[in-house]
Amino acid sequence: MEYREFGKTGIKISSIGMGTYYDPAFIISRKLHMKGINRTNVEALKSGLDHGITLIDTAELYGTEEVVREAVKDRERDSVFIATKAFSNHLSSYKIRKACLRSLKNLGTDYIDLYQIHFPSHFIPVKETLTEMEKLVDEGKIRYIGISNFNLARTEDAVSKMKKYEIASTQMRYNIYDRELENNGLLEYCKKNKIAMLAYYPLAHGKLAKSVNGESPIGKIADNHKGSKPVHVALNWLLSKGDNIFPIPRASNPEHVIENSKYDSFKLKEDEIIALDSIMNGTRK
Ligand SMILES: NC(=O)c1ccc[n+]([C@@H]2O[C@H](COP(=O)([O-])OP(=O)(O)OC[C@H]3O[C@@H](n4cnc5c(N)ncnc54)[C@H](OP(=O)(O)O)[C@@H]3O)[C@@H](O)[C@H]2O)c1
Repeated sequence: MEYREFGKTGIKISSIGMGTYYDPAFIISRKLHMKGINRTNVEALKSGLDHGITLIDTAELYGTEEVVREAVKDRERDSVFIATKAFSNHLSSYKIRKACLRSLKNLGTDYIDLYQIHFPSHFIPVKETLTEMEKLVDEGKIRYIGISNFNLARTEDAVSKMKKYEIASTQMRYNIYDRELENNGLLEYCKKNKIAMLAYYPLAHGKLAKSVNGESPIGKIADNHKGSKPVHVALNWLLSKGDNIFPIPRASNPEHVIENSKYDSFKLKEDEIIALDSIMNGTRK
């Protein structure tokens, strides 16, 4: 497992993380208290931790903070880097504090490593949210502040509103098929300013995981590296795009998580990266 520095924080975490967004039906059933904690989901996270993954991403919206709590409860707290998010209807100073306290309770922890604004608000000035988040850092309830789904202009604005701390990370859609970040300046900006980039949908919401060895450009490149699979190529490709990038594939199946944790048994060669880069301009398989 490769460990890389998380933004400017000076701490190192695993270069891939584990995502815990399952599906809208899961969210609704959790909200209606119809669903308990799924042991397979907990086992998936535990397997990832056992195989060296230290980053777990959740959100108040996902209804999976309790799943994370179950997975980490018997571990040293500082062996896991827990990232959660406040939803866009909880961004006033009063509501984000309440949301943070609720997430702490759900997670069964005294502090959140990374507290992220899930989506920007059209109603609450970002300065109000960030000022309260800085107070939460001062109080030791959160360690680092992150954003998610902020375009370049909003990211620059958020960075400029910080008074005591810095924006440690952002979280955006990024995979071989979806490379908007490369064209809109956000990737470059984050690299230049050492803002960590959590890449969500790293497997194109599962599409890339369905690629087969030997077929499609990704499957053919996987065949160049003994024992590797298209998912490994997809993760390696993302990691080759900057040392600030942290793909967070979904972790709900222990076997898949263990498989994903072996992404680093090889490194893509330059010509393979170029071939993968061209997929977007040509075949989408
Ligand atoms: N910030 C945001 O707004 C935002 C939005 C969406 C998602 N996210 C975060 O990003 C994470 C990842 O997004 P995602 O789950 O939608 O997409 P993803 O990770 O690109 O794809 C997930 C799909 O790939 C499958 N998969 C994973 N590893 C596999 C393997 N080794 N072999 C075969 N299939 C495999 C999963 O199935 P199994 O589950 O069966 O393994 C699932 O169907 C989320 O969990 C969440 O934490 C953030």
